[in-house]
Amino acid sequence: MRVIQILDTTLRDGEQSAGVNLNTNEKKEIAKQLVRLGVDAIEAGFPIASPGDFQAVKTIADEVKGATIVGFARATKGDIDAVYEAIKNAEQARIHMFIATSPIHMKYKLRKSPDEVIEIAVEMIKYAKKYFQDIQFSAEDAGRSDLDYLVRFTKEVIDAGATIVNIPDTVGYMMPREYGYLFKHLKEQVPNSHKALFSAHCHDDLGMAVANTLAAIENGVDQVEGTINGIGERAGNAALEEVAVSLYTRQDYYQATTKMNLEQIARSSKLISKLTGMIVPGNKAIVGANAFAHESGIHQDGVLKERTTYEIIRPDLVGYSSNKLVLGKHSGRHAFRERLIALGYVLSDEQINVAFQKFKELTMKKKEIFDDDLMMIIDEQQLKQ
Ligand code: KIV
Ligand code: ZN
Repeated sequence: MRVIQILDTTLRDGEQSAGVNLNTNEKKEIAKQLVRLGVDAIEAGFPIASPGDFQAVKTIADEVKGATIVGFARATKGDIDAVYEAIKNAEQARIHMFIATSPIHMKYKLRKSPDEVIEIAVEMIKYAKKYFQDIQFSAEDAGRSDLDYLVRFTKEVIDAGATIVNIPDTVGYMMPREYGYLFKHLKEQVPNSHKALFSAHCHDDLGMAVANTLAAIENGVDQVEGTINGIGERAGNAALEEVAVSLYTRQDYYQATTKMNLEQIARSSKLISKLTGMIVPGNKAIVGANAFAHESGIHQDGVLKERTTYEIIRPDLVGYSSNKLVLGKHSGRHAFRERLIALGYVLSDEQINVAFQKFKELTMKKKEIFDDDLMMIIDEQQLKQ
């Protein structure tokens, strides 16, 4: 089974979410949790961005062991020096440099020709080699770059010494088949492609980040990047918990796995939501409050008879203690009776009928019926045995 490397960028791209601002202690706490989660590499931040960012990356590199610590840099000597100073004490250190390769970015943002961009990339990789063995290089906006140019660029950066080449869909523009094809094409057409690992990095502007990441895996990518809860610039990055659980649940399809400890997902998700202040939507896959909640009577009846009828992921797999049968207006008698039994009430069929009638009346007034409501019904109707 192929093992896909995971680079978590919650602390770098994730922190680029509008309104998020983590201090050094919070970043360290998250990094420690990411080690528990079993990611291979933690992108700790962008040291040149500010003294605070530098300090946070340095603290993580000095104190957090058990994963490769990655420092982010533009392709400039100043950025590279700052990354070195920040992560030189890491157990394993990696620099992640980038330069844009799309016509739009080269023309309007960099104001450089395609040849000049390759020259800068090559020169800066050679410069970084004096500090680092592990050098990741990203072709920013690869998703909108010319394919032949990307082949040439990739060959040159690998020749210069890049050990990982990242092909980001920076603006979340690509569709899964196209993005997957990029990796197939690069692996086949870049003559020295076997000398480096390939990495996928997807944004969610069109809601495709996880699908695109999985398409890259289908097409032989070695590493994937993302964030917990999918936080990140604009619409966010690929949600790593969704990628990892998809690989686990559909091992038959992907024949690939990760080293992630899936049972740490719930804890990671809650910590990151708490510290970033970014609320996880209730219907979010894997970590949303409703991800394991069954509301309708038909579903609740099915799950009570055999949970696999409506549950493809066991909640305990990802660190939740149990699924949740929400008692509301769609609930049926089966779920209602089971909840009463769990609360210690074993009632006759006749008593259940009375209580169920009262319960249904209450659902007209309240969306969700809690245990206290049920106990009140039992008391009011004097149904206790
Ligand atoms: O989205 C992106 O392109 C990035 C870097 C890898 C440059 O975050
Ligand atoms: Zn990004």
